[in-house]
Amino acid sequence: MIMKICVVGAGYVGLVSAAILADWQHNVVCVDHNEQKIEDLLAGKLPIFEPGLQELVELNRRRQYLRFTAEMAEALRGCEMIIVAVGTPPAENGHPNLEDFWAVVKSFRENVGNNVIVMIKSTVPVGTGEAVSLYLNEKVSHTFSVVSAPEFLRQGTAVHDFLHPDRLVVGCMSPEIREQMKELFQPLDCPKVFTDWHSAEMIKYASNSFLALKISYINTIANLCEAVGGNIQDVAAAVGLDHRIGQAYLKPGVGFGGSCLAKDTQGLIAQGEVHGVNVWMFKDVLEVNYEQRVHIVQRLTEVLGNLKGRKIAILGLAFKANTDDLRDAPSVTIIAQIIKLGGLVKVYDPVVDSSSLPNIISVSTADNPYAACQGVDAVIVLTEWEEFLDLDLKRLQKSMNAPVFIDGRYLFERKRLLEAGFFLPERPSSSEW
Ligand code: UGA
Repeated sequence: MIMKICVVGAGYVGLVSAAILADWQHNVVCVDHNEQKIEDLLAGKLPIFEPGLQELVELNRRRQYLRFTAEMAEALRGCEMIIVAVGTPPAENGHPNLEDFWAVVKSFRENVGNNVIVMIKSTVPVGTGEAVSLYLNEKVSHTFSVVSAPEFLRQGTAVHDFLHPDRLVVGCMSPEIREQMKELFQPLDCPKVFTDWHSAEMIKYASNSFLALKISYINTIANLCEAVGGNIQDVAAAVGLDHRIGQAYLKPGVGFGGSCLAKDTQGLIAQGEVHGVNVWMFKDVLEVNYEQRVHIVQRLTEVLGNLKGRKIAILGLAFKANTDDLRDAPSVTIIAQIIKLGGLVKVYDPVVDSSSLPNIISVSTADNPYAACQGVDAVIVLTEWEEFLDLDLKRLQKSMNAPVFIDGRYLFERKRLLEAGFFLPERPSSSEW
């Protein structure tokens, strides 16, 4: 079954979905109201850094399975399925901001024909699928079928994750649509969960908040290890070997960032509060995560005494490796706090341009890690870029004014750092006592 598909939103989820569905030989148009983004895409420039995506987009544009436009009405014309993949960023009150989402949905009634499938991939509060179906099927002669198909891909491994998910979740209310979805996703070899709209929406929130919980849990254990002794890496590895717990998302460090885990945990808190459900547990998850950032600056202040006029190198700005995304990146909070305390910051990141930092943050940028560390009083690693592992640590240490090293990602073996002559301002693990 080859379908004519319109993907609305050229962000991570939209672009990756569009490129892969085109690769499966569907006829795909990807539309975004941001004209600059579309102009760049038409010129062959991707708005995001995502390994493997550029090639996939180029190939399928050449084969004419994929095209881009900023014209919504034109993109919707004649399509059999619309995938909604617009952003739902957090609003002040913790609820996701659904303005763009509803603006897009509202344009469907006038612009498409009969029996169109509307697949929601944006992360939306529980109940949204039902509300969309009620809205679209009200007062029109033709019918829309709404499908809630949350996406679980991660930035940095998005193409791989789309193609090899742990599971596919599809919420839909009719057996015919379920059959069509089975056929559409036939290329995916994974467990396929067919359920109702509400459950599909909740699965997305439940998954992201659980990942957030797991990271805040291991960071709490890491802080305890630092205080009472114990090597957190040994502890995490052994805890994760219990198959009921599992290794994933037990990497301690500066905590989670990005546009999803915190946002969806907040979204769950907001939904709980509206319905009078006790959600303190998720509030603690966010609090622990924020404290991880503060903790790094506290450690730095303790060891340097005072940050006034002190030079600090930051290695890694992105919220995680293999992405150029700075949304809710721990680096942004940490750099802002260091500057507030009078410190001077030099940064290096392999892909993030420091001009993307918020305007209020003034830093100097280096072309490479060695230049960033030249003459500084401390270096902090905030993104687990693999290339950092190849650094000549002795050379780095020698070029610094004071050899303070804070590894906010537990990227390096402590032994390697100590051998290179660094001072690590945390308690030694018991194996070094
Ligand atoms: C997350 C989910 O993992 C995806 O399944 C989901 O589709 C996506 O949100 C979304 O809702 O769109 P993402 O935000 O791209 O994906 O990034 P993750 O790889 O999950 O990492 C999130 C943060 O947690 C990063 O800052 C990462 O460094 C941190 N992290 C991750 C840890 O601190 N420790 C870990 O063990 C794992």
